[in-house]
Amino acid sequence: MKHPIKINKSYSIINQMAREIKADRIVILVDENTSKHCLKRFKKKSRIKGSVIQIQSGEQNKDIDTLQSIWEQMLREGMTRKSLLINLGGGVIGDMGGFAASTYMRGMTFIQVPTTLLSMVDASVGGKLGIDFRQMKNMVGVFNAPHLVWIDTHYLKTLPADEIQSGMGEVIKHSLIADKQLWKQLRNHPTISDWKSLVKRNVEIKKAVVAADPKEQGIRKILNYGHTVGHAIESHYLHTDSPLLHGQAIIMGMLVENIISRDRGILSPKHCHQINTYLADQVKNLSLSASATDFESMLLTMAKDKKNSNGKLKLSLLQKPGSCTYNVTVSPQEVLRALGASNLFG
Ligand SMILES: NC(=O)c1ccc[n+]([C@@H]2O[C@H](COP(=O)([O-])OP(=O)(O)OC[C@H]3O[C@@H](n4cnc5c(N)ncnc54)[C@H](O)[C@@H]3O)[C@@H](O)[C@H]2O)c1
Ligand SMILES: [Zn+2]
Repeated sequence: MKHPIKINKSYSIINQMAREIKADRIVILVDENTSKHCLKRFKKKSRIKGSVIQIQSGEQNKDIDTLQSIWEQMLREGMTRKSLLINLGGGVIGDMGGFAASTYMRGMTFIQVPTTLLSMVDASVGGKLGIDFRQMKNMVGVFNAPHLVWIDTHYLKTLPADEIQSGMGEVIKHSLIADKQLWKQLRNHPTISDWKSLVKRNVEIKKAVVAADPKEQGIRKILNYGHTVGHAIESHYLHTDSPLLHGQAIIMGMLVENIISRDRGILSPKHCHQINTYLADQVKNLSLSASATDFESMLLTMAKDKKNSNGKLKLSLLQKPGSCTYNVTVSPQEVLRALGASNLFG
């Protein structure tokens, strides 16, 4: 799953690459927000004169209908297997555009240009592409490498604060599972001044984990830390009037999973307290409420998790900052107890 990742480098590399592959057509995929905030800069800097396909933003549009409309427009643009698709946007554009390109005429070249923090540090690295199907996230997709991942942290300037907070969820996760120095830095310097170094370090962490286990048979599972419980929390609030962004739910998921880990004796009470105080502070602006029945329904969602095996809940649990274990079988009672003890839900 090797692909070059360039951060804040000269845009001429993109143009040069398009010439090298002799692209017969170049098309840029955007949503209305990246069209407004990112497209002008991208075209000006890269001098790429491709046409544009625009879709509607939002996870609810990461679906088969939108995918079909992308294929249709690719056909209408006369794209062939020798064409180039440039995905300019967040994880939704990257995952769906990458999947569209990987399947169109059995696969053509594409470049990821992530424009959200989450997609820079996470979604654009590792080659997972796809769409949601029948309410299930990332149900249909492929593993496939883009030709290039092109990161320009300038795009973060227009990103709304809650989207930054969401991306920080994955940044915090990376630090906790793999880099205690970064964890220390995040705790001591809550305001980020150097996005380039932060993104670079996070890309390195994700790349290293993915390289060790591209198909997620073992160690790559540590990237799921916070995600079993986090996904269930995210799904639960999805259709309420207080929906959460993915990374916000992951912050909560990490907090709850840390309690399970502490109660198991895997994470020390001292570390658990230190980390959970920090995590709680990250999401203190979100006020949520949940009843015992809500916790039960979150548990049902966890039971459907792709990471389980033999009907057992399997979690990736933190051992200490910088170190994480995986495939830990956890009982429903442990999860319910930790959800209740988390103080996250009013
Ligand atoms: N492939 C993977 O390994 C992987 C990993 C993590 C997440 N994901 C996927 O990524 C998706 C989430 O990604 P996301 O958080 O980037 O969401 P997103 O793509 O929905 O973007 C979030 C919002 O920010 C807007 N936006 C994007 N760039 C902007 C900019 N520079 N300025 C202003 N607004 C901008 C978008 O239009 C959207 O409204 C999910 O579908 C998730 O499943 C994939
Ligand atoms: Zn995530």
